[in-house]
Amino acid sequence: MSAPGARADGPAFPHLAAPFAIRGIPFRNRVFSSGHQTLLARQGRVTDAMIAYHAARARGGAALIVTEAISAHETAYFNEFTPSGFLDDCIPGFRRLADAVHSAGCRLVGQLFHPGAEVAGVLEDGSRPTAWAPSLHQQERYLVMARPMPKTLVRSVIAGYAATASRLVTAGLDGVEVLASHGYLPIQFCDPRTNQRTDEYGGSFENRMRFLEEVHDETRARIGEATLLGLRISADDLAADGFTEPEVLEVLQALDRAGRFDYFNVTVGTSGTVQGAVHIVAPMSFAPAYVAPYAARVKRAVARPVLVTGRFNQPQDAEKALAAGVADMIGMTRAQICDPDLVTKALGGEAEHIRACIACNQACIGHYAMGVPISCIQHPETGRELEYGRLVPAAQPRRVMIVGGGPAGLKAAAVAAARGHRVTLHEKASRLGGQALLAQLLPERAEFGGIVQNLEREARAAGAAIELGVEIGYAQILAADPDVVVLATGAVPYAPPHELSGSAHVVDAWSVIRDEARCGSRVVVADWRGDWVGVGIALKLVRAGHHVRLATVANCIGVNLQYYTRDPLIAELDRLGVVATHYARFAGADENTAYFIHASGGHAIELPDTDTVVLCYGHRSEMLLAEQLEDWTGEVHSIGDALAPRTAEEAVLEGLKIAAKI
Ligand SMILES: Cc1cc2nc3c(=O)[nH]c(=O)nc-3n(C[C@H](O)[C@H](O)[C@H](O)COP(=O)(O)O)c2cc1C
Ligand code: SF4
Repeated sequence: MSAPGARADGPAFPHLAAPFAIRGIPFRNRVFSSGHQTLLARQGRVTDAMIAYHAARARGGAALIVTEAISAHETAYFNEFTPSGFLDDCIPGFRRLADAVHSAGCRLVGQLFHPGAEVAGVLEDGSRPTAWAPSLHQQERYLVMARPMPKTLVRSVIAGYAATASRLVTAGLDGVEVLASHGYLPIQFCDPRTNQRTDEYGGSFENRMRFLEEVHDETRARIGEATLLGLRISADDLAADGFTEPEVLEVLQALDRAGRFDYFNVTVGTSGTVQGAVHIVAPMSFAPAYVAPYAARVKRAVARPVLVTGRFNQPQDAEKALAAGVADMIGMTRAQICDPDLVTKALGGEAEHIRACIACNQACIGHYAMGVPISCIQHPETGRELEYGRLVPAAQPRRVMIVGGGPAGLKAAAVAAARGHRVTLHEKASRLGGQALLAQLLPERAEFGGIVQNLEREARAAGAAIELGVEIGYAQILAADPDVVVLATGAVPYAPPHELSGSAHVVDAWSVIRDEARCGSRVVVADWRGDWVGVGIALKLVRAGHHVRLATVANCIGVNLQYYTRDPLIAELDRLGVVATHYARFAGADENTAYFIHASGGHAIELPDTDTVVLCYGHRSEMLLAEQLEDWTGEVHSIGDALAPRTAEEAVLEGLKIAAKI
């Protein structure tokens, strides 16, 4: 296997490009994709869509793909999308997956999974499954009471790991990885907080290690010596009352001394608590590569190869970690969800063309939480490879006029131009980006601005002409007479019907984000959207010294945010003394009181001592041009917020869809 994109003058990232081998199995470079549920499996089986998804990353240069968590036993139920490795009929699907990944020069390892107490979903008939754990355990995140496993079940599950591994190796995978990170079953056995058994699987350190050791030993016996057997582990749960780094190192050193496992794949966090779970897919408020120091300490403690994953979104960070000896391979998972060609670009001297993941968590883990196939807000082709994986040149080049240079317009421009259309994009502001320029101004959201840089680069590289500071009206469209008009004009703030009296001070969210509005010292943020804006403005103002209350019409603040993004924000607001009021629909204000109606009870809610109300009540589409063009005979499409105010995800997706169609 040769490194893709190797250059005559040497690789741009020498450590990243260096081949590596574990148990004699060669890897073409140091970048891998760590296990992640794609939600592309159906009825527990690999699908064509899943194969197309992974094949794209393999073609893009990844050295190793670890599959998503695969159920290693019939009791290993996580959600309805987990592949059933405990059934023989999983083998043909995994064989097709292995063939596709291997034919692109990439290795494939299957992830062996049992959630123990961490049961997130319901069965296909809507009922809740039984959660089995080492001991009676009250699970805090999924509100599950786990039942202790009888010893016969413990032994059956251990055999299940080995049998599942054997099926995957029969299917042609290069090996398997035991998923012991994030508080799942193997580590529940190791952790005395979740294991109070009194038999040989509980009590002393040696007894608590027995489950993992037997999983290793039986699995190795079944798969033979020629295949990989790795371990994924969290170096620290990073949660109060979680498994700690010294405890993890003790586990790893015992395994290392005994020659168990071929590599240790390090991450942080646990699925077991809300506090620890944010690290499973850390949002942009966590620094890039922040997991590196944890891996470095593991690396110093063990002899086996160490892999690490967690917020490596650029090859520069990965190269730095490798050069510093932090780990032997770097997981760049969302980075490749966002840009499947990341490795080829990095090693081919085109790192500046990488579409860097911005850790927004919207369409990858956000989709996962919604139970739909994963994608990426910046690259909606992800998860839709069968439909949009290949760019189809336009049968007939057309003159395409795009009005609006936010994410929707930029994506439409990039794809339409790449297909061969003659594209001009007009933006009335002096900068591209639309509402993304505002979104990046919210606290700890600066990275969101990367979406604009990425999409602009793609649009320009594809050959779209971009005109800034040009307001396009009906007359200009008629004069230009394009073949297609794409309206991506966005939206403007919406204020719900409300009553104001006296010197009530009510301002809209945008003016606060832009620092144009002067808020009084006691502020009520009235939030309808349940997204980044309400909680972000509350955080911005409380940090600036205002007394802030947050009144949301929903049953939870940040209700529409992906939970790993939302939960640390809620914790921070609580720490800073922001009091939330729920089910509160804004009704009006006077000089010192904000008035709300309880959305369920219909009764009045008064928030006295209010100097300023900040309205976060969403937007309405900018529809003027669409209405004026109704009788025009040409082809007109509205996309993104101009069609209906939603998020950047829908904007970019609709840009792709329309550009792929015209
Ligand atoms: C959609 C999604 C699903 C995931 N599912 C799994 C999984 O099945 N097994 C696992 O070990 N980790 C899972 N993870 C965690 C990733 O392996 C990885 O640790 C995480 O995305 C952080 O790495 P990154 O910053 O490079 O994306 C998942 C992550 C995402 C985004
Ligand atoms: S949706 Fe956001 S976090 Fe997920 S891969 Fe895309 S850019 Fe990264």
